[in-house]
Amino acid sequence: MSRKPRWAGCNRIELTKVDSTNEEAGRQALKGACHGTLVVAREQTAGQGRRGRSWYSPPGDSIYMSLLLRPLLTPDKASMLTLVMGLAAARGIRQVCHLEPAIKWPNDLLVREKKVCGILTRLQMKEEAIDSLIIGVGINVNQLDFPEEISAVATSLQRESGRAFEKTELIEEVMAAFEDCYDCFFQTGDLSLLKQEYNEGLINRGRQVRLVASGKEWTGEALGINDVGELLVRRQDGCIEQVFAGEVSVRGIYGYV
Ligand code: BTN
Repeated sequence: MSRKPRWAGCNRIELTKVDSTNEEAGRQALKGACHGTLVVAREQTAGQGRRGRSWYSPPGDSIYMSLLLRPLLTPDKASMLTLVMGLAAARGIRQVCHLEPAIKWPNDLLVREKKVCGILTRLQMKEEAIDSLIIGVGINVNQLDFPEEISAVATSLQRESGRAFEKTELIEEVMAAFEDCYDCFFQTGDLSLLKQEYNEGLINRGRQVRLVASGKEWTGEALGINDVGELLVRRQDGCIEQVFAGEVSVRGIYGYV
């Protein structure tokens, strides 16, 4: 039995088909939708991924959802909430599916080194302040086949466990876990209370990673995140860099992880 969230998803908008739940949540925000509104769709026709990529979103078997928040937060802290959702999704998957997802910084969840969940956050500003923060979550739940171009890096919960899962149960568990993690975040205004759990689940930790940002590429050993969610990477010369998620791409030296 999944837990019932207190506020996350209290106002739920369920759609058969939408361009992108992130876009729809953005439109709902402009119409005044409240903190905790959750947009869930059975299919996306223009699902969005990180770094301008698309997110494969066929009908039925997977979760496409976007949680709309109206946090009292300065914009520089918003990216931390993406990591908070990553942790919540990992907790939800562990609880419902009895799988142990690993986190690929900043917020991909992997099972056996293949991706089962991706998260994309979008901010809408009013003057200098956050009007709404939308956290979009895609979870490959019962999908068995993937297009060739992503089949080497993507998998689903059913493929990895041999069982099908109730999407509604998983959504509720992720939302309940998000509430717990969100409370921890707001106690300190950073990730200090969540950092240990995050780093324990971090697949990059202790591994050589290749970072690509603004056309530049460098490698180093990933050490874990700091209190604000930056990835600490020890360069070959021993210097430790703090990497902000933004538009950076992190890969293993020999492949995806
Ligand atoms: C990534 O590239 O890893 C991020 C993928 C995020 C996909 C989700 S599915 C629900 C929400 N709506 C979108 O268009 N994207 C996010």
